[in-house]
Amino acid sequence: MTSLPPDLPPHIQRLREQADAARANAWAPYSHFPVGAALESTDGRVFAGCNVENAAYPAGTCAERVALGTAVAAGARAFVRVVITSQHHAPTPPCGICRQALVEFAPALEIHAVAPDGRAVRWSLAELLPAPFTPGSLENV
Ligand code: THU
Repeated sequence: MTSLPPDLPPHIQRLREQADAARANAWAPYSHFPVGAALESTDGRVFAGCNVENAAYPAGTCAERVALGTAVAAGARAFVRVVITSQHHAPTPPCGICRQALVEFAPALEIHAVAPDGRAVRWSLAELLPAPFTPGSLENV
């Protein structure tokens, strides 16, 4: 884990703004915990997502998986980094299900979480999800 200085690098700041814009549309009436994510593909496109909750709680989806699904639907299948934002005072890490969803397409993904005051943390996905189950894990069964 690396803590980034309060002045974010411009490319991270841009992604943060896209995550924040998506977060403004979050549907989080149950948790009151809106989240935004901006996922950058290796060809430089950015796909944003927000969490979309549901009265049937388990049907809700995280911001990261909304961004990932949007990206895959647009033909993107490889990713460099994701920036996650929330209103929480501490940077918000991706949940375990999102880590698993992301490793399918981006085992070397950089994950950045940015708090409202600009405090940021960066992890590698490998750091957050060691010994992942990947497409290769299904070979020779
Ligand atoms: N959530 C996300 O969208 N992404 C995360 O990284 C953590 C959690 C959502 C799920 C749920 O809608 C709300 O935040 C509270 O858990």
